[in-house]
Amino acid sequence: MLYRRLIVRLPSMQTMSRRQLSTSPPPRSQKRARVDYLTKDDFKNGVFLAPMVRSGALPTRLFALKHGATLVWGPEIVDKAILHAKRNVHPDTGVVSYDGVSRAIFATHPIEKPYLIYQIGSSNPELAVQAAKVVQEDIAGVDLNCGCPKPFSTHSGMGAALLTEPDLLCSILVALREAMPAHITVSAKIRLLPSREDTLKLVERIVNTGISNLTVHCRTKSMREKDPATIERLREIRDFVDAMGKGIAVTENGDCVSYEDTKRVKDITGADSVMIARGAESNPSCFSPTPLTDLTETLIPDYIRLSRYLDNHWSLTKFCVAQFTGTRIKTTKTGEHATRQAIIASKGYDGVNEFIGEWSGAEVFKSIRDAIEARPARRASTGNAEMQTELEMEGDEAKEPYASSSPISQPEDGLVTPEDTQNPEPPSMTMKLPSVTTRTIPSMISGVDPLTPTPSVILP
Ligand SMILES: Cc1cc2nc3c(=O)[nH]c(=O)nc-3n(C[C@H](O)[C@H](O)[C@H](O)COP(=O)(O)O)c2cc1C
Repeated sequence: MLYRRLIVRLPSMQTMSRRQLSTSPPPRSQKRARVDYLTKDDFKNGVFLAPMVRSGALPTRLFALKHGATLVWGPEIVDKAILHAKRNVHPDTGVVSYDGVSRAIFATHPIEKPYLIYQIGSSNPELAVQAAKVVQEDIAGVDLNCGCPKPFSTHSGMGAALLTEPDLLCSILVALREAMPAHITVSAKIRLLPSREDTLKLVERIVNTGISNLTVHCRTKSMREKDPATIERLREIRDFVDAMGKGIAVTENGDCVSYEDTKRVKDITGADSVMIARGAESNPSCFSPTPLTDLTETLIPDYIRLSRYLDNHWSLTKFCVAQFTGTRIKTTKTGEHATRQAIIASKGYDGVNEFIGEWSGAEVFKSIRDAIEARPARRASTGNAEMQTELEMEGDEAKEPYASSSPISQPEDGLVTPEDTQNPEPPSMTMKLPSVTTRTIPSMISGVDPLTPTPSVILP
């Protein structure tokens, strides 16, 4: 199931150093590995982590995967933002960081690659393709954001502006499908249009571009997050796409808060899969039938340990932790408040030593890696060439593993994204960038890191 499943299957690989691995080429039988790529069927029967600027940071995605998210979307990255980034691979942790001039634009880790959908903000087919090509070796699929209603996006023709420019929207999807290798899926996330007819017309065109999944955020462009999502409108879209007979998955998004809640949403909508944003922002374990409670004790310390281990910028870690609420059973409100205040007051990881205790980030990472690797294999190919491929693994690939029911609530502590801010992710001019294996990405533009919009009151 994994792209580099070979790495997982090699005996005692996890206990061997990379130096050991690189000294002897793998035996012939191990060189040929079956590689199952993400297919459109992998978008069915899933519970997905939604794209979320800032809140969808790498540690959050990894915890979501550990607790059962089937696939995870990365935060929207505007096409130009990634074009001049340098790809750095941390030799110890394997974190892949796409670093801009002043900040990390995007960070990922090879263990999430088979499940990672990279979301692009774009209004230009060529730029979208260039952006996708920059990251394609680290992702399973690309998704086009066609739902962000914020002026920052829509003024430049991106996000929800694409909903009323179907020619442009579809030309981007077609360009991505043509340019990406077959094993990289292409998908789109849209909002509803006000009328049924217009929505279905748009859906028909989008489905005909060759996408693997269509996610529908069941709000219109003018609706706010406090307006209930009109999820009942999804059923006719689901039926319509079914009738097109292309086997494309339709994913519901909007107001689903947990694994348990997906049953309600699926009953109403008939959706193949469900995507959760704010429920996961407040508790990344919401994908589990038994989500964590008392997050101050059960999640936050490990989240901070892992974040430090992965070099996640402290301000981004702090921001994400501030969103975690979950259900409180044993912890007292006062105790929780004190802990949270201590975290918020801290200027860096060292400031929370007392609370964190042992810095065992590597162990937290290992527990996540073990959970991901223990996931059941994706089902066998149905014979479609797009669905499964056997690749001759180069010896070098085997040598280097790393050349690789929570209610929605607001954080108490005021660490929310200010309205109308434009995303810095992570928001740092002083971030320590890893000084490691570096590859320069050909650049269309240079010198400035273009900004990605940060949703706040208005959600994409
Ligand atoms: C903090 C935050 C950031 C978001 N960033 C994105 C984004 O980058 N791309 C996107 O398509 N939607 C983004 N969204 C919208 C969500 O993906 C989702 O469509 C919306 O929140 C509705 O789902 P929910 O009811 O589960 O929250 C964001 C939402 C939040 C709360």
